[in-house]
Amino acid sequence: MEIQLKEFRMEYEDQGLGMPVLLIHGYPLDHTLWEPQIKGLQNEAHILAPDLRGFGGSDPVLGTYKMELLAQDCHEFLNNIAVKQPVLVAGLSMGGYIAFAFFRMFPERVAGLLLVATRAAPDSDEAKAVRTKNVELAMEGGAPAIAEVMLPKLMSPKTYNRRPELVAAVREMIEGASVEGIVGALLGMRDRPDSTPTLAQINIPTLVLHGADDQIIPLNEAQAMQAAIRNSRLEVLPDAGHLLNLEQPELFNKAAAAFINSL
Ligand code: MLT
Repeated sequence: MEIQLKEFRMEYEDQGLGMPVLLIHGYPLDHTLWEPQIKGLQNEAHILAPDLRGFGGSDPVLGTYKMELLAQDCHEFLNNIAVKQPVLVAGLSMGGYIAFAFFRMFPERVAGLLLVATRAAPDSDEAKAVRTKNVELAMEGGAPAIAEVMLPKLMSPKTYNRRPELVAAVREMIEGASVEGIVGALLGMRDRPDSTPTLAQINIPTLVLHGADDQIIPLNEAQAMQAAIRNSRLEVLPDAGHLLNLEQPELFNKAAAAFINSL
């Protein structure tokens, strides 16, 4: 489905009935990241999975994609499709950075948080320098060059070596991203604020899900994040890396469904 927002045309998936669950994808991916959840959770909830600006089927827009801007897009999307009640905001990695911004900007719209493979801390100086290098790489080699460097890190070594069909699907997803989207998100992530002070403000049920073998965000960061959020729980999925919802869809959906039903 698609909808015209003020600045761009957004593509999204809308399935099921009940508690609205906003699934925010990570970088440099799109809403099809959530395919196992769109299929597996639509009997539990109203699943809404947008493509962020510049990703998947959504139009590219030139500029820095601040996390607040992407949160604003999600809010405009919910308003335009007439979802007025509080939603469960689920974000994977960059989607989690956006979920923190969404919570700060629109706390009354958040019924719960599902923080997947994400962190509260900002980029270190070293990480900022890598972002700048990746901006150059994307401008020179496009999305395929970004796919090449990211793919081995996105999944656990076991998934990467044993599930070529999953690796190919993720490659296709990354290659579908626009250069504007990749560059905009890299600049926005590089300059994102520290969300650590937000953790103590979170007063709604929160589930943290993390892959035991995440090579992009180490488990200890998720543990520290969860420890700072009242009323939160952490579940660690075995044999899963950064894309745990694709690598362990059944375990992921079981944990997510129990959380949704507890709200
Ligand atoms: C993501 O998966 O969204 C990104 O890898 C997060 C990041 O680069 O910080």
